[in-house]
Amino acid sequence: MKILCGTSSQHLANDLSIKMNLECVYAYVRRFPDGECYVRIERERLDKEIVIVQNTHPDNNFVELLFMIDAARSLGAEKVTCIVPYFGYSRQDKRFNPGEALSAQVMLRHLEMGVDRLITIDLHKPEILDWVKGIPATDLHAEPAIGRFFKESGVNLVLAPDKGAAERAEEVGRLIGVEFDHLVKTRLSGSEVKITPSQIDAKNKSVLIVDDIISTGGTIIAATNELKRLGAKSVIAACTHGLFIGGALDKLKMTCDRLVSTNTLESEVSKISVAEEIAKVI
Ligand code: R5P
Repeated sequence: MKILCGTSSQHLANDLSIKMNLECVYAYVRRFPDGECYVRIERERLDKEIVIVQNTHPDNNFVELLFMIDAARSLGAEKVTCIVPYFGYSRQDKRFNPGEALSAQVMLRHLEMGVDRLITIDLHKPEILDWVKGIPATDLHAEPAIGRFFKESGVNLVLAPDKGAAERAEEVGRLIGVEFDHLVKTRLSGSEVKITPSQIDAKNKSVLIVDDIISTGGTIIAATNELKRLGAKSVIAACTHGLFIGGALDKLKMTCDRLVSTNTLESEVSKISVAEEIAKVI
């Protein structure tokens, strides 16, 4: 068995190869002058079992992944497990308005045609994997990795920014061995949210906010401001998938005392590796 990676998830693929003592093969990827993608695996043959690690976000990476699957098959890969650390379009999981594309389902359908097993991490709605009928599909949780990372950090309250992430905060809180709760959020627009004034006792506490995705940073900034208003001593933000759109990283660094994400998306703050969680199921 070998690990194969493209351009999107090299740190995680490398971590996984060390954890599992497997060679990591880096696909050669470049763009033609017109922007089209060229993929080549520079080997004579590949093992029968291949584990591909590649994000499907942004769209370019999805095309790269489809080409990697094809190239791997052409070199003899018979069983292809596909690890998608950050599955793009996971938030477009229903037709919110008539006539909208059901993007998450389209992406899953196309992946299902090419691979033999699919593994994702912290999907916004894990239920979308029920759409995958033809191959085994599993969504892994990053909470154990986040819990390990903050175990001896002095955090004494774990909060979710909204009800949707409450179970996440509960799991991390239990792993660290501290209290947990959630705030109440209303989304006003794509980048603006309102956090309802809370009764939570955050005074003088080191609070860890956990969420699945940080995109514009609006959610975490509003939650941090509310916690500071409540007298929190420090506010750390942690997420699984750090998209950090636009200037989100800078804004977050000015608002929170610390910011960390997992390595499902690579950035200067992706310090928590989910390689162990993946290695356990392969
Ligand atoms: C939404 O329910 C997600 O769990 C995140 O809270 C959301 O995607 C964060 O987005 P943003 O950083 O733009 O507020």
